[in-house]
Amino acid sequence: MKGNFPIDKFGALQTPFYYYDTHILRQTLELIRQETSKMESVVVHYAIKANANPQILRTIREYGLGADCVSGGEIKAALQAGFSPDKIVFAGVGKADWEINLGLEHGIFCFNVESIPELEIINELAAAKGLVAQVELRVNPEVKAHTHANITTGLAENKFGIALSDVEHVITLAQQMEHVKFIGLHFHIGSQILDMGDFAALCNRVNELLVLLEQQLHIKIDNINVGGGLGVDYQHPNRQAIPDFHEYFKTINMLIRRRDGQVLHFEPGRSVVAQCGSLISKVLYVKQGANKQFAILDAGMTDLIRPALYQAYHKIENISSELPLETYDVVGPICESSDVFGKAVDLNKTNRGDYIAIRSAGAYGEIMASQYNCRALPKGYTTEDLL
Ligand code: LLP
Repeated sequence: MKGNFPIDKFGALQTPFYYYDTHILRQTLELIRQETSKMESVVVHYAIKANANPQILRTIREYGLGADCVSGGEIKAALQAGFSPDKIVFAGVGKADWEINLGLEHGIFCFNVESIPELEIINELAAAKGLVAQVELRVNPEVKAHTHANITTGLAENKFGIALSDVEHVITLAQQMEHVKFIGLHFHIGSQILDMGDFAALCNRVNELLVLLEQQLHIKIDNINVGGGLGVDYQHPNRQAIPDFHEYFKTINMLIRRRDGQVLHFEPGRSVVAQCGSLISKVLYVKQGANKQFAILDAGMTDLIRPALYQAYHKIENISSELPLETYDVVGPICESSDVFGKAVDLNKTNRGDYIAIRSAGAYGEIMASQYNCRALPKGYTTEDLL
């Protein structure tokens, strides 16, 4: 089964481009809304890093989500799309002064602080403006996620977060500062996680830490942010277009032992937008190699870097052809041997000019595009744009 594409509308567009199926995005957001409305005191912040296309952001905002930002640029994109500042959180190991100031000026909900020096600078910059910045501490929970090494974040060896053994000390420091207000803890163990056991391990760690902090510091933590990380089914984008948010929210909500009034925050990125997006390109040439044939596309690793960077699998479909299947290495035009979207891929017999869809590319696709080889950045179109 192939995806559903308004191919008759594609002729007017310059390939390669991203196509976002608004219906899938809305169905996904509807499920998030439905599942979270069953739970008390929950806020979902969409992780903008996955896709900051303005149309996509506006749709996500319509469903009432907040925004998780990791740069001043992302804060600007969130504000422009109409996200309310009191639902914006700002994370990242290296926040520049102008980015902190931007967050302060707009009164964002909180800064997720990753080190003592950063906490000191936020305190200083807030003091200069006569403000008090709300801060959560990002804790490195030392929980291993079963995913690609490049997208694991919650291990002692990773640069992210404050070491577990330092948390108590850093909270005490924050409490002594006049221009920051400590409001909670933040965690994130990695991305493309499909094993609910990994999230369960995180919840256990959070519970242990809550007990420890209550006993040692006699404090209650108002906000717990468990980050993002829910994975999607890259093998079957048609069969499983909407990730299992039911199981995800249920597992975490059930396992975290929340105290009265504690608010639970989530930061999904990939699971919100991956399946609605496809990279659409045209076949430039079909080339016979010594022992295989290549389908050479006009899209390359500059448009979608995930296969080259993480050896990530994306389903590839020839959406113009219904001819019998043949096997191709599907490659781009970039002068790099890693510019390969898939090896030994079965496609309907392919000819020059056919449209190829590279599926599940809505997350970390368009946003990670580069101009290497002086190529233009790909544009993104939603179903609504093409009506
Ligand atoms: N919160 C924090 C603190 C994060 O670092 C991330 C992702 C998220 C939330 C959202 O995670 P998600 O729900 O999307 O898994 N470029 C890589 C993924 C990098 C993820 C970085 N952090 C890829 O293409 O697979």
